[in-house]
Amino acid sequence: MGRKIKYEFEAEIFNIDELNEIETILVCKAKEALNNAYAPYSDFFVGAAVLLEDGSIVLGSNQENAAYPSGLCAERVALFHIGANYPGKVILKIAVAAKPKNAIEYVQAGPCGSCRQVIFEYRNNQKQPINLLLVQPDNEVIKTEVNDLLPFAFGKNSLLK
Ligand code: THU
Repeated sequence: MGRKIKYEFEAEIFNIDELNEIETILVCKAKEALNNAYAPYSDFFVGAAVLLEDGSIVLGSNQENAAYPSGLCAERVALFHIGANYPGKVILKIAVAAKPKNAIEYVQAGPCGSCRQVIFEYRNNQKQPINLLLVQPDNEVIKTEVNDLLPFAFGKNSLLK
């Protein structure tokens, strides 16, 4: 029998009007960003809004392609834009919102495994937490941290050179 270890996942759930000003803005921006999604294949619209240390907010939305795997999630569209245009800038928070086409209500947003891995890479480099604000149905928002969403993450530290 192996020795049991317990991994604790920490998150908080808020009603949207309990968020502070900048978080409220960021969530609104993520919701706006999903309107620029190009999602003719899934009809699933995702928006991401990323707050940088200098106060800039970078938006991303999912961008699909007829060759399906060539498309990219909203989170990675925003993060790679930051890597390319704001290299080294600390990322403070990421808000994500998702909605199927023509839906009135937001559905649960939770970054896919590949996006968690990409967020972790930046988080690992900056050695500072990145808060995730994940829009949920019923005007709720889950607040968590990258390391909580990707336990036992694989990072550059594991790659021996
Ligand atoms: N998608 C995102 O943009 N972010 C996520 O966190 C989950 C999924 C996109 C990918 C694809 O364009 C569509 O949602 C359906 O999977």
